[in-house]
Amino acid sequence: MQKFKSFASDNNAPVHESVMRAILEVNQGDAIAYGDDVHTLKTEQLFKEQFGPQAKAFLVFNGTGANVSALSHLSRPFNAIVCADKAHIQHDECGAPEKFTGCKLHALPAPDGKIRTGQIKPLLHSTGFQHHAQTRIISITQATELGTVYTTEEITEIAQFARENQLILHMDGARIANAAASLGVSMREMVTDTGVDVLSFGGTKNGMMLGEAVVFLEPELAEDFMYTRKQSMQLASKMRYLSAQFNALLSNDLWLQNARHANRMASLLSEKLSALPQVQITQPVQTNGVFAIVPKPAIEKLKRKYFFYVWDEGRSEVRWMTAFNTTEEDIEAFVKAIREALED
Ligand SMILES: Cc1ncc(COP(=O)(O)O)c(C=O)c1O
Repeated sequence: MQKFKSFASDNNAPVHESVMRAILEVNQGDAIAYGDDVHTLKTEQLFKEQFGPQAKAFLVFNGTGANVSALSHLSRPFNAIVCADKAHIQHDECGAPEKFTGCKLHALPAPDGKIRTGQIKPLLHSTGFQHHAQTRIISITQATELGTVYTTEEITEIAQFARENQLILHMDGARIANAAASLGVSMREMVTDTGVDVLSFGGTKNGMMLGEAVVFLEPELAEDFMYTRKQSMQLASKMRYLSAQFNALLSNDLWLQNARHANRMASLLSEKLSALPQVQITQPVQTNGVFAIVPKPAIEKLKRKYFFYVWDEGRSEVRWMTAFNTTEEDIEAFVKAIREALED
């Protein structure tokens, strides 16, 4: 059978073999349910090693669940959450953040995926005014939905701004590993030391079968979160199968190796595309996504061979993503197919 090859999303990648093995290894005998098992205890410890001793991690099923449970835990329905216009919470969660938090989302224009404090400042004029939603949370995505990354200085600036204004800083880290690999810093330096309050930690896109985590860097914010997680339907009974995956990912730097590799494959793709004048790369390639404007007829032809998404129909812009399992041969073959589609 010919292997299906997608450049649509790191969600289309398989499960890393070490993760699969880890699932099989814990599949023996009974274990206490709902997270009171030795594997989950180990996972909690591994999160502390990555993010510092005060970090408290709660495992959940998926990224939307991580974002929605974290945001609803930290807000009240009269609050507002500030994010980028292309943020997953704004664009790709079917309105779940609005439904479950009751909050208004202030989606700010972010042509490079990043929001800046200068854009948030004017929203705070509403603070204390009873007719306006009260801004409570800033949510940034690292790496952004456009594959770019906030520098540690940029995160620190937003965190300081949040603190000065009694706001909470949430980070959607569905691709946190790709961002840390790109910056060449530890997750602790990028998240804990910059002053992020709560993180949605992504595992699925980086080699896991399923599973994300809500990680509180400010322990008092974690108070009662176990009830929020349960009410959010994100408490796994057979938790050991989630924990085993995290234990594989967070051991021996597998998270970093996978992310570095995916990023390197995206760089390779962009390097090769630079030789094709008809393809215009639209965002700096800093992690594992390449955004490019490609002539429409070529997109149609290429789609017959490869699965990927058109990001912006109007601009004829595509998103091509790599993952831990993308090979140099995959990139060679893909670029050859792009060249042929452009030539026909
Ligand atoms: C930035 C971002 N956040 C969160 C998610 C997680 O979403 P899901 O609920 O599909 O796991 C994704 C998945 O594509 C994402 O790209």
